Amino acid sequence: MIENEYLSFLKHELNNVFGYSRERVCFSFAPGRVNLIGEHTDYHEGFVFPVAVNLRTFVAGRLRRDDLVCACSVNNRQKIEFRLSELAPPGQSLWWTYALGPIYVLREEKIHLDGMEFVIYGEVPQGGGLSSSAALEVAVLLFVNSLFNLSLPPDKVAYLARRAENEFAGVPCGIMDQWAAVFGREGHALFIDCRGMETEFVPVPGRWSIVVCDSGVRHSLASSEYAKRQEECRECLLAVRRKHPHVKALLDVTEEMLEEVRGEISEVAYRRCSYVLEENRRVLEAKEALRTGNREKVRELFGGSHEGLRYKYEVSCSELDVLVEIAGSIPGVVGARMTGGGFGGNTVNLVEKGMEEEFGRIICQEYKKHTGKEVKVRVLEAGEGGRAWQE
Ligand code: GLA
Repeated sequence: MIENEYLSFLKHELNNVFGYSRERVCFSFAPGRVNLIGEHTDYHEGFVFPVAVNLRTFVAGRLRRDDLVCACSVNNRQKIEFRLSELAPPGQSLWWTYALGPIYVLREEKIHLDGMEFVIYGEVPQGGGLSSSAALEVAVLLFVNSLFNLSLPPDKVAYLARRAENEFAGVPCGIMDQWAAVFGREGHALFIDCRGMETEFVPVPGRWSIVVCDSGVRHSLASSEYAKRQEECRECLLAVRRKHPHVKALLDVTEEMLEEVRGEISEVAYRRCSYVLEENRRVLEAKEALRTGNREKVRELFGGSHEGLRYKYEVSCSELDVLVEIAGSIPGVVGARMTGGGFGGNTVNLVEKGMEEEFGRIICQEYKKHTGKEVKVRVLEAGEGGRAWQE
């Protein structure tokens, strides 16, 4: 739930930006996420293991008596206004793309909406691989769901949020981030099977802290490379399907099938798919390792995942590699790897409780020494999924 100080702050901002109104106010929030392991596997119908975190995006707003949708970001003090009927994909990623995409897809679903105005306040760092976009999409959907009493079930909220990203923002992402933003649970990681969307909640061992390190790197390449990875994997999928027509996605591809088509596909496609097969196995093992608090196993799996992302899927960057290498030599670190889409952003580290400060001190110092750059270290908690309510 939202603490009272946030509620009064959001309401104050709402009145400040749009003036006073008698309409009742609806509030919502949705969290960012840190993916523990299972990177670039969701869009192959594979396994992922994210944690919703206590960095949140908030929305507060109300009805209007016209057909305008007006949104304002408290973070950057920018405002945007559209007629509902004129909402169309902007063809580029702007701050409001993720705020208005959900409204666009609801209209595409033929759900009747009236004018509305709302403010947005975000705590999730943008472009850092902690899923600020999904947090915003889910927060807006929950807000609209509550404002118009749409009674959308939670899974539908997650699917629509993903559609907003695919169709309005034009990013061909998978479902992991939106699902985590909806279904997050305090103290737990979510093991998600992205084929059937069965979700198991696994407690994060109390003696381990989730620490993220922001490399400060933001690559504009990220979304074009993201789409390119899907294409590269498709080459392999099509080759396997010619021999095994029942294969639907990379999840169904075995090592033997991959070897069978090796001579027919590019070396790049082979490497990409080999990573995905291995990563899916690692997620299954990581679920058990987290459950049993198996330190060595977690270390090995996180290490393997990062190596695979670095050399086989090639979505890491030198700064993330440096952060993971430094973390590997710090006492109290259970596991370290890049998290999220890659090409910059954050690493995720599981660190023994009580060792976080020392970890932060060493990583800041060493990162500066190796790259000349600053790293931002955040100790996060596994938090709850998004909620909305009316005043
Ligand atoms: C982004 C996408 C997710 C997922 C990750 C990589 O965060 O939005 O769907 O593919 O990258 O694991």
